[in-house]
Amino acid sequence: MKDKKTIGAGLRGVVAGQTAICTCGINGSGLTYRGYDINDLAKFSSFEEVSFLLMCGKLPTKHELANFTQDIVKYRKLPAQLKELLENMPKDSNPMDVLRTGGSFLGVIEPETSFTEELEKAKRLLGAFPSMLGYWYNYANHQKRIDETKGGDSVASYLLTTLTNQQVSDENQRCMDVSLILYAEHEFNASTFVCRVCAATLSDYFSAIIGGIGTLRGPLHGGANEAAMELISRFKTPAEASQKVKQALVEKEKIMGFGHAVYSKSDPRNLVIKEWAKKLSLKHSDSNLFAISESIEKLMWDEKKLFPNLDFYSATAYHFMGISTELFTPLFVISRTSGWSSHIFEQRKNNRLIRPNAEYIGPEPTSYTPINER
Ligand SMILES: CC(C)(COP(=O)(O)OP(=O)(O)OC[C@H]1O[C@@H](n2cnc3c(N)ncnc32)[C@H](O)[C@@H]1OP(=O)(O)O)[C@@H](O)C(=O)NCCC(=O)NCCS
Repeated sequence: MKDKKTIGAGLRGVVAGQTAICTCGINGSGLTYRGYDINDLAKFSSFEEVSFLLMCGKLPTKHELANFTQDIVKYRKLPAQLKELLENMPKDSNPMDVLRTGGSFLGVIEPETSFTEELEKAKRLLGAFPSMLGYWYNYANHQKRIDETKGGDSVASYLLTTLTNQQVSDENQRCMDVSLILYAEHEFNASTFVCRVCAATLSDYFSAIIGGIGTLRGPLHGGANEAAMELISRFKTPAEASQKVKQALVEKEKIMGFGHAVYSKSDPRNLVIKEWAKKLSLKHSDSNLFAISESIEKLMWDEKKLFPNLDFYSATAYHFMGISTELFTPLFVISRTSGWSSHIFEQRKNNRLIRPNAEYIGPEPTSYTPINER
């Protein structure tokens, strides 16, 4: 039997497998998708192009990108049974549960019958998750059955069109696109790891993705962007924010949107999204929300040397784009579907069942007492 070493809580620092998809800053590598720096992708690319890059392993040609984008648009169309299911979901459903259930239902009526269908299924969800969310949101909140196929040619424009019911400005559309790029992939984070564990059992594509959604939902992972918004909106002034957050730290509260399991000094994605949050705040002549966010950032650094992660300023940016807070984490699902899918494909290509051991800390072997003698 090989030596078994006990490792730290939460598997911190453990290299749990290999990937050719993403580096996330360990050993000074910076955050890259398939070797491309995240800053370049955020500046020059689109979510569709990044999804192709992640899932197909290379940047697309013009022709490939046009086809890929068209496929996603085509896949917005939802089957009638799924729309009926969405209409039957309560108005106060958690939208993460809507996507988890809707995605799972799609896996029932359009199952993956062979792994050769995996890319097609991924494009299906990249088209259908936005339309499920838009369809359910409009039906539940405005009793409106939208034409789920319409809403611009990109995922970014579609989300803004269906979820804000406002004219989509170029600035908002670019900010949404950048946010989707930043959220698309992040190595062996909790939800991606779940997708890989599931895929490693040779289960189907949909099961792996649904596991990812359930994992992303928690506030220590994807749910942090909603929790950050909830925090920021509690305060009326930057001074109040500093004072109350300081008190929260004394009371050992976790401040959502700060800290990271892998990064120790800063999150490279934060600089990009913070810039956008600032731009949108100026456009909205906001004199408070962005200042409150910055005062919390300063306080967290001064008190704990903790820095904002991607979720903190994403909250402010989404708010200024007119997105309702309960939709923040579902937007993360839509974006991360591309990263999850690439990891499912990669796991399947060189698969071995993921099955670690546990260090046993329970009782010594004990003799069984029949129930009548207890
Ligand atoms: C992301 C996160 C789970 C990673 O943390 P981790 O590597 O497991 O580190 P720990 O949670 O063990 O935290 C280490 C210390 O920093 C503190 N800390 C970490 N993040 C903190 C936060 N956001 N607010 C307050 N304290 C925090 C912990 O309380 C702990 O302090 P202690 O040693 O005095 O007990 C953690 O930073 C966190 O909970 N952040 C808030 C949720 C969030 O934004 N998630 C999105 C991540 S992208």
